[in-house]
Formats: sequence, C-alpha cells, structure tokens
Amino acid sequence: MGEIRVALAGIGNCASALVQGVKYYRDAKEGDFIPGLMHVNFGGYHIRDIRFVAAFEVNREKIGKDLSEAIFAEPNCCAKFANPMPRLGVEVLPGPILDGVAPHMREAFKVYAEDEDPVDAAEVLRETEADMLVNFLPVGSYEATRYYAQAALDAGCAFVNCIPEFIASDGKWAARFERAGLPVAGDDIKSQVGATILHRALVNLFVERGVVVDETYQLNIGGNTDFLNMTCEERLRTKRVSKTEAVTSMVPYPVPTRIGPSDYVPFLGDKKICYIHLKGRNFGNLPVVVSAKLEVEDSPNSAGVVIDVIRAVKLALDRGISGPLTSISAYAFKHPPIQVEDHIARRWVEEFIQGKRER
Ligand SMILES: NC(=O)c1ccc[n+]([C@@H]2O[C@H](COP(=O)([O-])OP(=O)(O)OC[C@H]3O[C@@H](n4cnc5c(N)ncnc54)[C@H](O)[C@@H]3O)[C@@H](O)[C@H]2O)c1
Repeated sequence: MGEIRVALAGIGNCASALVQGVKYYRDAKEGDFIPGLMHVNFGGYHIRDIRFVAAFEVNREKIGKDLSEAIFAEPNCCAKFANPMPRLGVEVLPGPILDGVAPHMREAFKVYAEDEDPVDAAEVLRETEADMLVNFLPVGSYEATRYYAQAALDAGCAFVNCIPEFIASDGKWAARFERAGLPVAGDDIKSQVGATILHRALVNLFVERGVVVDETYQLNIGGNTDFLNMTCEERLRTKRVSKTEAVTSMVPYPVPTRIGPSDYVPFLGDKKICYIHLKGRNFGNLPVVVSAKLEVEDSPNSAGVVIDVIRAVKLALDRGISGPLTSISAYAFKHPPIQVEDHIARRWVEEFIQGKRER
C-alpha cells in the first residue's frame, strides 16, 4: 500500500527504540507474533513500510548526523538491540529550542551554537513530503509542542503526540486538525506493559470484584534523560494530570491518589522501576492491600505501540479521516480524547482497521 513517511521531533531514547524497532522487525512475516505489536500487517501496512524522512533536534551531538547514528549519541542510553544500523539517509536538523530544554538539562548535554539558525519545521515537512510528525519532546515542552503541531498543520501533515501536552485531547487543537483535513492522535504514549496499564488493570480488578478503593499511589524512578528532566516539578504538571486521570478514570468515585515520576537514579539508565500501592476494603469492610513492583526497559516499552499508532494514522490519511482518532488514541495513549477500558479500546482499533469504525 506504499510507504509511510514519518518525521520525528526529539531524537532521544524513544526515537532510538522506534527507529531500531522498525529495522529489527523489518523481515517479520505475516502471522508472526511480535511482542508489543497488534499486528505485523496492520490494515495492509507492514512495519517495514515505515520510512523516516526528517528528524529535528537541539542537541549538538545529534544535529548533522545521520539518524541511524544520532539515535546512539549520548546522553541516549536506550538498549542497542538493532546495532549496527544501516545509514538511513536522514540528516538530523536543528529545530527551535523554545522551552524544550529545561535549565538543569543544559548540564546533561549541549544545545547547538547560538549563531546557528534553526530550520523552519513546516518547510522541511513539506519538502520531505512527510505524512506525519511524531512528537517525542521532553515533558514540559508546552511551546515547542505547539510549534511542531502548528508546523504539521501548516505543512498538511498528521500529528502524533507522544508526550503529556494536550493536543489531540484538547478541543481547540483537535478542531484545528479537523478543519485542516488532517488526523491527530495522542496524548502521552501508553507503554506496552508500563506503570499506567498495570495500575489500570489492578484498579479495574478491585472495581470489577466489588472492592472499595480507599487509596492508591504509583511512584516511578529511572535513570534516563526523561527522568532527569522530570526532577523539575514545574515541568511535571501535565504529566501528573495525564498519568493520574488514566487511573482515576477507572473508578466511579473519588479516591485519594498520588501518581508521578518520583526520582532520578542515574545508574538505572533506561531501566524504569515502578511501585504501585493499592489499598481497599472487601467483604466485611476488611482490608485488601496490593503492592506491586514493575521493572522494565523504559523506551522500547512504548516503541511497538508507536509503530501501531503510525500505521493507524496512515490508514486515517488514506481514508480522508481528519481530527482526533478516538480508537487508536484510547488504546495507545494515557490522555486520549475519549477514555475507555483497555479491552474496549483494543476492540475499537480492530473495528477501525476493518473500516467498521470511522475514527
Ligand atoms: N515509555 C516511554 O519511554 C514513554 C512513555 C510515555 C511518554 N513518553 C514521553 O516521550 C517523550 C520522549 O521521551 P524520551 O525518553 O525519548 O526523552 P529524551 O529526553 O530521551 O528525548 C527528548 C529529546 O528531545 C530533544 N529536544 C528538546 N527540545 C527539543 C526541541 N525544541 N526540538 C527538537 N528536539 C528537542 C532532546 O534533546 C532529547 O534528545 C517524553 O516526553 C516522555 O515523557 C515516553
């Protein structure tokens, strides 16, 4: 059915896992089971149909490099599961910094020189005929996310928002994409088996089995730049909202809840550790407590999900569907336009692939 032309904003660990994943599974056969993907053939699109055509960054160690090298440049620390990578023929270009780099992150890496001009992202997206732009900027990139979303609109390309800034789930932005005839999916990618989906499953179990949920928390630690960036509480507001609503939306009454990134532990690298606590009452008002610990490689955990999202968005483009894609967003993102239970979202996506559901 042709190729899917994908541009990336932010060549950090998530982009590294995504780019590697597309290479790693390029020879997968239809019917193969690929952990973390819904299908090898997603509505007619194979994993290898994804072609990266543009990449935007601000780290001077990544700019000017071929995307295949930039994904391994420090401080990226994603596992190298598809190394060596062949050259991709995509030079990483300087995007405007805006609020993408927090002051404390300037100690972790150097941004491009002051006398270097950023490119115009919309122009690049037009020139490279990108179908969609995938946003992998750091948490707290309010302005920079809106800059890239606007660039997508100006260039006539779709937008996939993997970060906790509200675009697909914001009525005004969603309407702008709808008016422009372009699909948008988001917000804040939900990993394959990550803290959010595990927490949702546990809470759902309590609710389904008639246990009263009295309190819950979810603490997360990790050693990658995502966690270092999130040590700044001011950048975290939307992350807390996104992660918290993904869990509290499963309970039909208010519950004391505390959820969020909790600390940066450098030697963990790309390993993320999550502690979930859930306290409730069952028959006879007697206590039930669940304590769970999850350990997972953070960035590859979301890459398969993004590969499915990219193919869903391409199907929407082919079918002329514009505005927020509610099915894939509910399945693959923590803060979608419409929040439903995960098994329902999965059914919606299957119906969308078969053309039985519009969006
Ligand atoms: N499983 C997951 O890893 C997961 C899950 C949900 C959400 N996310 C979100 O995805 C985003 C990316 O995560 P990551 O681990 O790749 O982070 P990262 O810190 O490794 O990468 C972010 C990249 O963006 C670059 N950047 C900063 N400002 C920029 C700008 N203005 N233009 C272009 N590039 C810019 C940085 O230099 C860095 O390379 C984060 O917001 C994270 O919270 C990740």
